[in-house]
Formats: sequence, C-alpha cells, structure tokens
Amino acid sequence: MPSHEALAELGASLIAKLLIQKPSAVLGLATGSTPIAIYQRLVKCYQHGELSFQEVTTFNLDEYFGLSPENRHSYSAFMRRELFDHIDIDIKKAYLPTCGGTQNPIDVGEQYEALIANSGGIDLQILGVGSNGHIGFNEPGSSLCSRTRLKTLAESTMADNSRFFGVFDDQPQLAMTMGIGTILESKHALVVASGQQKAKAIKQAIEGPLSSYCPASSLQLHQRVTFIIDEDAASCLSEASYFRLCAKQKDKLTKRFEINRGW
Ligand code: F6R
Repeated sequence: MPSHEALAELGASLIAKLLIQKPSAVLGLATGSTPIAIYQRLVKCYQHGELSFQEVTTFNLDEYFGLSPENRHSYSAFMRRELFDHIDIDIKKAYLPTCGGTQNPIDVGEQYEALIANSGGIDLQILGVGSNGHIGFNEPGSSLCSRTRLKTLAESTMADNSRFFGVFDDQPQLAMTMGIGTILESKHALVVASGQQKAKAIKQAIEGPLSSYCPASSLQLHQRVTFIIDEDAASCLSEASYFRLCAKQKDKLTKRFEINRGW
C-alpha cells in the first residue's frame, strides 16, 4: 500500500463488504494507533447510511488488567471513543476481556472463550502487530496454542505504549489477551501494519521461521489471512515483488469470479 490512508481505505472496505454480506457478523477488534483510520472510515460509512452495526457482535483482542471500563486508559474507553460511540452498535454485544483486580483472570479467560464460541466464532479478526512481533498481547514466547489469559507485557511493549500515558499515570504491566490459538480460529484474519518500526516483525511474520518468538509468524498457520501493509512496513520483505504480483492476480480473479478468497 502506498500510504496509511490507502491501507485504511482497503481495510475498511473489506469490513464493509463483510457487513453487507453478513449483517450479523462477528468482528474481532484491535486497539492501538494502526486501526484508528479504519474505524474513522467505518464511522463515515455509518453516518452516510451505507452500513449498520445493529446486528454485529464484537470481541476485542485485549484489555489492561485491573482497569475498569470507565478508566480513560482502558481499551473499553478507547473503543467507545474511536468507534462504539459513533455507530449504532448494541453495546451489550461489544465484548472485551475486562478483568477487575478482584476477579480471577482464569475464570474471565474461560468465560471470554465461551462467549466467542457461543457467538459462532469470529468472522473477521483485525490485528495490529507489535514492533516485537506480538499479536494481541501475546508477547514473544507465547504458546502457539494459547487461549485468552493474563499476560505480562514485554519491556518493549511497555516502551512502545508509553506514548498513551502521561508521566503521572500508572501504566499497567499486565493485560488479558486472546491467545494465539484463539486468534488462529478466526475465519479470516486481517493484519494491518505501517511504518519502518514494523518492518522486521512483518518480515519475520511472513517470511521468517514459524516461531513463538515472533507470535505474528503463527499466522502462517491461519486458514485465511490478509496482510495490508504500507511500503515502509514491507521494506524488509525479500519476496515483495512476488507478493505484489499475487495482489494483482488476486484483484483480477476477484473481479472475474466476484468472490473474495485467497488465490
Ligand atoms: C491492540 C493490540 C496490539 C496492537 C499492536 C500494534 O489491541 O492487540 O497487538 O495491535 O501493539 O499497535 P499499534 O497499532 O499502536 O502500532
């Protein structure tokens, strides 16, 4: 993708296509900087009457441990600010793995997994990638079979995310996150990444060895994954020209057969 705007446009259009085909779709959502532009485009589609989220169910990837949904640093608050407050979603069907300090994270994790299973599973999971290769808050070394659970954030993740916290804020070091096994069960994974700081992780995810030390490389095992990345994030890929060729072929075949599968 030539720019972050083009990336967001394509990401939003894939989500919109799914919601038009399946208004009751189950979406897996991510926080962080990368998907914000996608959410802004979805809000515009809703405001223009092109999309409705009334029947949609959502599951966020992760949430800081011990933060209440009212805390402005919580991912619940982030999602309300960036998306939920601006669309017609039924907020009772917008789930996050919220775990207060007195709740047992093991119970919360199991309940979250059951909710996802009872909803029929995630149709489309949006994923950002950490500069250390994490997906959700599955930090390097996370089990490739892991389920929703409590994780300790890596020092590099704490440093990357410190930009969201003021000097007097307590930055949580623990978070509940869907596991890699949970993410791999989604029907379609949509990975979005931009910027040079993601280039190494993207190379390892797509071309590197499958290893728990780059959790995003687990997506090599996913049945259907789409990477939407800008030129900077793609800059370390050895096979970039082949991937561009595949994208062109995919465009042609999608138009010809009017279906959107991996070619
Ligand atoms: C957020 C999440 C994280 C981020 C990743 C990239 O819910 O699960 O894995 O997607 O840290 O964050 P940004 O987009 O801020 O670079």
